[in-house]
Amino acid sequence: MSRFSDYIKTEDFKKEKHVPVIDLPENIKAGEAFNVEVTVGKEIPHPNTTEHFIAWILLTYKPEGENFAYELGRVDFTAHGASAAGANQGPAYTNPVAVFNVKLLKPGVLTAVEHCNIHGFWESSKDIKF
Ligand code: FE2
Repeated sequence: MSRFSDYIKTEDFKKEKHVPVIDLPENIKAGEAFNVEVTVGKEIPHPNTTEHFIAWILLTYKPEGENFAYELGRVDFTAHGASAAGANQGPAYTNPVAVFNVKLLKPGVLTAVEHCNIHGFWESSKDIKF
């Protein structure tokens, strides 16, 4: 039986960058809010066209020693140059960068998952230590 996790990729191919990059402040303290910035295509921009784009980024948190992960937030990117004039003729584009302001009480693991409309699901993780 195949599982959804079988389709989530963690390594990039060709020259496109799909794996989300998680940026954190240097000093994170338990119980204090901080920003988690998640970017897709940080080194090499991913295309952002009507036909090919990053649709959303999801951020999850799995506290150390617990059985379940939590969804911290999800951002949809919905403008990719579409307009009544046609594909890629529109005046608006949203780029795949999301900032989540979070407060965590325990160390654990942050995982970002993103969805490219034609290349599927990609993820990366970062440990949170206090
Ligand atoms: Fe893609």
